Amino acid sequence: MLKMKVQDMTIEYTTTPKEKPDLSTLVFGKTFTDHMFVMDYEEGKGWHDARIVPYGDMTISPAAMVFHYGQTVFEGLKAYKNEAGEITLFRPDENMKRLNASNDRLCMPHVDGEFVIDAMKKLIAIEKDWVPAKAGMALYVRPVMFATEAYLGVAPSKKYRFLILLSPVGAYYKEGINPVKIAVEGEYVRAVKGGTGAAKTAGNYASSLKAQEVAEANGYSQVLWLDGREHKYIEEVGAMNVFFKINGEIVTPALNGSILPGITRKSVVQLLTHWGENVVERQLSIDELIEAANNGQLEEAFGTGTAAVISPIGELFYNGQKIVVNEGEIGTLAQKVYDTITGIQFGTVEDPFDWRVQV
Ligand code: PLP
Ligand code: COI
Repeated sequence: MLKMKVQDMTIEYTTTPKEKPDLSTLVFGKTFTDHMFVMDYEEGKGWHDARIVPYGDMTISPAAMVFHYGQTVFEGLKAYKNEAGEITLFRPDENMKRLNASNDRLCMPHVDGEFVIDAMKKLIAIEKDWVPAKAGMALYVRPVMFATEAYLGVAPSKKYRFLILLSPVGAYYKEGINPVKIAVEGEYVRAVKGGTGAAKTAGNYASSLKAQEVAEANGYSQVLWLDGREHKYIEEVGAMNVFFKINGEIVTPALNGSILPGITRKSVVQLLTHWGENVVERQLSIDELIEAANNGQLEEAFGTGTAAVISPIGELFYNGQKIVVNEGEIGTLAQKVYDTITGIQFGTVEDPFDWRVQV
């Protein structure tokens, strides 16, 4: 099969560019740029018809398999603009690796990561004026891929579409960098070992909505999931991985097949290790966490994610008990991690690991 080259991609420019949004009132994920990237796949033919077109609605068969059996995966990364106007991506190669791992799990074809990153860069370059040059803001990049074959049999689709959408964003949580309140889920589960929890696929998010709705009604931003088998071990939050500082040790749940392997998580582990901190990836039970909190040993808690960035957790609610962490304030570790990660992303802090990729 011929390898696609970004030079061969067609570009159709919009004739009706939109007005740029007011950055002070931007809501996460509701504003899209003028163009999007599209390519299609067909068994035997491979990926073809790579193109940049005006952002807009598409025609898809009502029998497309994605609507019936949920064969779809997505990614999330951000493009940042520094004061000199340079635009960079954060570790896009990691998103491509995870995308193809998700594709494996969902019986979907691989994409050529190098080609997709080139296409992404081209799209972002066209939309460069949409990248907010403001601290705490970025252009969210959403690659998404789904089954388009019109067929009602349960089997892997023979046709797919791949898109890259761009959306200027600010904070994911209304709290911004201020600590969020999280409810530990006691009834529902997000994923089980052997299931699709480690893949970035829509079903994991659909199945999380019920618990999220209950948590929100009770005044909590998100749900902290426990493992699906024993309902005992901490896994992750709806849109972020979690870290806890317990008696000097920084613990994040080990990747076990049902947790999404976050790229921010991986970066934070690398950073903490680089700083000589005692960071450990291991099983952490909710009982151990509650006991540590009751003994005054739970020093800090924070979540990590592309959308959520570094988000301190100020309160946990479990089994009728409220656990206030670090008096509901951001801790020194979370602040240092936030400053360093966002500094590397925005180009204001040295990047010792070469994580930044020029657009
Ligand atoms: N866990 C879930 C369920 C997520 O949706 C995300 C967001 O992508 C994360 C964790 C964090 O992953 P990353 O740091 O790669 O954005
Ligand atoms: C991301 O952080 O990129 C995510 O995918 C979270 C998303 C579900 C909003």
